Amino acid sequence: MRIGMLTGGGDCPGLNAVIAAAVKKGIQHHADEFVGFLEGWRGVLENKTMPLTLAAVDGIILTGGTILHSSRTNVRKIEGGIQKCVETLKANKIDAIIALGGDDTQSVTQALIEAGVPGIGVPKTIDNDLFGTDACFGFDTAVMIATEAIGRLHTTADAHNRVIVCEVMGRDAGWIALTAGVAGNAHVVLVPERPIDLDHVCALLKYNYDHGKHYGIVVVAEGAKLPEGQVIKGSKLDSFGHAMLSGIAEILAQKIEEKTGYETRSVNLGHTQRGGTPTAYDRMLATRYGLAAIDLVHKGEFGRMVVLKGTEIKSITIAEAVSQNRRLDDSFLEILKGLQPTV
Ligand code: F6P
Repeated sequence: MRIGMLTGGGDCPGLNAVIAAAVKKGIQHHADEFVGFLEGWRGVLENKTMPLTLAAVDGIILTGGTILHSSRTNVRKIEGGIQKCVETLKANKIDAIIALGGDDTQSVTQALIEAGVPGIGVPKTIDNDLFGTDACFGFDTAVMIATEAIGRLHTTADAHNRVIVCEVMGRDAGWIALTAGVAGNAHVVLVPERPIDLDHVCALLKYNYDHGKHYGIVVVAEGAKLPEGQVIKGSKLDSFGHAMLSGIAEILAQKIEEKTGYETRSVNLGHTQRGGTPTAYDRMLATRYGLAAIDLVHKGEFGRMVVLKGTEIKSITIAEAVSQNRRLDDSFLEILKGLQPTV
């Protein structure tokens, strides 16, 4: 078969491992041929391709980013976009397309499936909030980077008797904030699933200062809502209509300083969380997804996305995957409660 592959949306460490595994299994076990479409769906719209050979994928498991490059291109918003993609895929004699991406990228895969294209999805989001899978590759790497950074903030905050507010990724769900916050021994963790209660945040910090620790570490997800119910949004929208989120740590730091009198600083970890080489866990998960995607192609199970359920790789329909986000439920939020003093 002739298989197309693309990577869409924000990059995640592990994309290259998926590509390598799929290409290796396809070529070595099924005599498949691969065409890489560059920059996500834009490459399909504009027919930008690169050959994906065994030599091209050799060793890329070691690297972050994506050899196919990425973009947030919403084909559905472009007049005739879906039809144009169908034509490019026909012109390249593509029998099946494997799209690596989050809900936005997969919503385009779904539209193409509905237009008759045999498509398979591989879940990808650093925020780890894609519905139907227990884990996305890249999340473990992001958590490792954030945990390391939060750990480092303790000594400098302690040295200056300061509060430091650290902003991490997490647009709709607080998976990175919760995991890195707990692992990094943050005193306060704030997630999009619960509105911020500023009085409670300050009471937790005061408890710390009153009990021998004269500093505080607050971890906040970029999508957490301020006391007034606002999310901090930039004015720019991406092509899927999402506002750029950034800056909640800075605003929260000002509010904490005003309310407590404690000197407070903020830091935004931003794209460092998505950069660099994947952890071994992410390389392994991504490899399993890549191999499973090829299995789905050869079984003719189109319209499906590979997922992790417990320890097993399974698949669900892409339509189901894009139907909602996977957020922290009460059992995860209880972890935070359990670690905090009752103030
Ligand atoms: O969707 C994943 C994500 O990393 C979000 O956490 C973040 O809000 C956004 O992407 C950043 O997007 P960009 O890379 O376009 O700045």
